[in-house]
Order: sequence, then C-alpha cells, then structure tokens
Amino acid sequence: MLDGKRILVILGGGIAAYKLLDTIRGLRRKGAQTRVIMTRAAKQFVTPLSVASLSGEKVYDDMFDLTDETEIGHIQLSRDADVLLVAPATADLMAKMANGHCDDLATTCLLATDKPVLIAPAMNVRMWEHPATQTNLQTLKERGVTVIGPDEGEMACGEFGPGRLAEADAIIAAFDDHFASSPVGIVGGDVLPLAGKRVMITAGPTYEPIDPVRYIANRSSGKQGYAIARAAVALGAHVSLVSGPVHVDVPDGVEVIPVETAREMMAAARAELPAEIGIFTAAVADWRTVTPADQKMKKTAKSKTPKLELTENPDILATISQLKKDRPQLVVGFAAETENVIENAKAKLKRKGCDWIVANDVSQGTGVMGGSRNTVHIVTEDGEQAWPEMSKDEVARKLMAAIAAKVNASA
Ligand code: C5P
Repeated sequence: MLDGKRILVILGGGIAAYKLLDTIRGLRRKGAQTRVIMTRAAKQFVTPLSVASLSGEKVYDDMFDLTDETEIGHIQLSRDADVLLVAPATADLMAKMANGHCDDLATTCLLATDKPVLIAPAMNVRMWEHPATQTNLQTLKERGVTVIGPDEGEMACGEFGPGRLAEADAIIAAFDDHFASSPVGIVGGDVLPLAGKRVMITAGPTYEPIDPVRYIANRSSGKQGYAIARAAVALGAHVSLVSGPVHVDVPDGVEVIPVETAREMMAAARAELPAEIGIFTAAVADWRTVTPADQKMKKTAKSKTPKLELTENPDILATISQLKKDRPQLVVGFAAETENVIENAKAKLKRKGCDWIVANDVSQGTGVMGGSRNTVHIVTEDGEQAWPEMSKDEVARKLMAAIAAKVNASA
C-alpha cells in the first residue's frame, strides 16, 4: 500500500518526538519515501542527524534558509508530498494549524498544502483536555484532518490519561487505511484515476416560485455536493455541477451550471450528459406551484388567505437512471431519511433504478442539514457499508475513491 508514497513528516517538539524515529523507519520499510521538517522545539528532543539517517533524506528546519528556498521552497515541499503527517502534534502545533499561523517552515507548509493531513497528537492530559485544544481539534477534524490517537496511559510527566502519542504501528496502520481508501492508480500523483472521465453532480436545494418574490425551498446547504465536486476534480475528472442556489465557494476546476427550479435542474443535468458518473446530491423540491403568480400576491383587508395548488416535480435521479441512451455508467443517489435509514434506502435504490444510494439520517439533532459532518451508509445491490461519522470533505473523498475504483474495475 505504501510503496512509492511520499510522506512529508512535520516533527513537532514534544518528549514523544523520539518515538517518531520508529514510525519513520516503519513507513520506509513499507516502501514509503519520508521527508522530514523539524520544528525548532523538535530539535531539543531529537537530533536532525538521527532523523536524517532514518528518513534517508536531508532534514528541513529553517524557513529562511535561502539555499533551500531557492532549491526547494515551502510550497514545493508540500506539493511533492502525497500526504502530510504531523507528529507529535503538540498543543501549540494544533493551535497554529487551527488558526492558520505560519511563522516557520513547518507551519508554512501546513498552511500551503492542499494534500491530506494526518496528525498524531501528544501532550499532557490537561493540555489535551483543555477546551482550547478540544476546539482546535474539532476545527481540524471539520477540515478533514485525520486524527490518530492519542492513547491513554501513564505520561512522561507522571500523570495518567489521554495524551500519549499513538504507537508506531497505529500510525503506520492509519497510512495503510488512508491509501486503501484512496483512489486506485495514483502513483506519486502522476496518474489520476478519473482522468478523461466526466462527472455530473446535482447539488443544493431548488426554489419553486409562488410569485416573483416568494418561493418554496428547503434547508439543503449544498456542502456535501460541492465537497464531492472538489474530490472528483482532485481525481482528474471533468466535473459539471448543476447547482441550486447556495452560499458555498465554487471549487477550482469545477464548471457550475446555476439553476433555480427542479425543471431547470432536470434540463441542465440532461444537457451535461453523456457522463460516465452521475451523482445526485440535490434536495430537489418534490412539488411546485401549478401556476406561479405573475405579480406579487397582495395581502389586503379583503383578500382571502391564498391556497397553493401544488403539482409534482420530475424526479431527476429516476429519469436519468432509467435513460436508454446516455445513462451514466454509475448513477449514485442520496437519501436523507429520518427513520429506517437502510430499509428506505434499499427501497429507493430499486424504485429509482440507480446503482448506489448514499443514505444518511437527517432526523433532528443529527445536525447533518447545513452542518459540516455526516454519517452515511452506502447501499448497493451487493449490500451495504456503514461509514463512521466524518467531515463532509472526508465523505466526499472516500466516496469518490470508491466510485473511481468501481468505474475503473468495470471499465
Ligand atoms: O425520493 P427522494 O427525494 O428521497 O430521493 C432522493 C434522491 O433523489 C436524491 O439523490 C435526490 O437528488 C434525487 N431526486 C431527484 N429529483 C427529485 C427528487 C429527488 O433527483 N425530484
């Protein structure tokens, strides 16, 4: 799994830093290439020479080393890596990451990277449990950072509790997991598994007009669909995103087709076909008003409360799933359920004729609608998989990796 993978290790300054030597050795044994940046504090705990001999590469440590900035700047260090590991992730490093500080080479690389980041925290139990650290941890998780450990046990300072650096085996296993759920066919970032493939995604709510100023809508934020679009571009796909009105930044490289109503979304989605992959995350309004008023409806002393006459909208997912010509090779629908999540998703898979359903529980209190985390089940004709709670970005990456694997396997 790790053969040829390029891991940039940010070695933090904590008593556990020496344990990283084993991790680096283990990663290299599995075929990974490791390049290490040491923070100033890290050098108090281990010597750059030991790190260099184990990592097999020069150790980087000073942002203002002019030779390195000309030969290989901080941007290049991040760009050259497939993934970054921060360990031991001290309370200070986590705070800097969460707040976007960049006052040395390590933190500058962390801010400059768009690669996945894994962190293995290690610190005194009280520092770990401090609300400041926990808030930073939450921020980092929401941004898609994978957190390994910390373990619970006796600490160097004599206290007991969570805060010990995860063991080398656990850190290495986290990399195996990371690459196992990563797209097939990436070798050093050269071959992108969805290069040359088209992905059409619907996202956001639809607005169904009542009159020129009023409409029927729903709480969909579009975050999950936009995250999927970003993940699909990262795998080399050409992505068109048919989007209802949302307030989410458009990811680089994504072509957005803005729409308002379900019928516009249907027409735009069809116009984006053929595509190898269709992903339907939009929360399409089930009904629209039969005849929206031409003028703003007035409330006067005499007027009666108007009755809205509704009619059903077209089902975009079902229509595209059942196309004879231009049906995408893989059609993935979403199902937001408030009860019997799996059974309802299975029934929906059959009813709509799609290949996969990504089902999630949006009952009150789950915070999924509008939030940035999600717990999903993937339902296919072969069975179902329950994924643990993760950020919408992580769901997107994992989902696109699985989609790429499926499409490439059946190509
Ligand atoms: O039937 P339900 O709305 O629960 O189905 C959800 C799935 O169907 C989602 O993938 C959604 O994008 C899609 N859908 C659609 N057009 C509709 C209704 C739902 O594409 N009119």
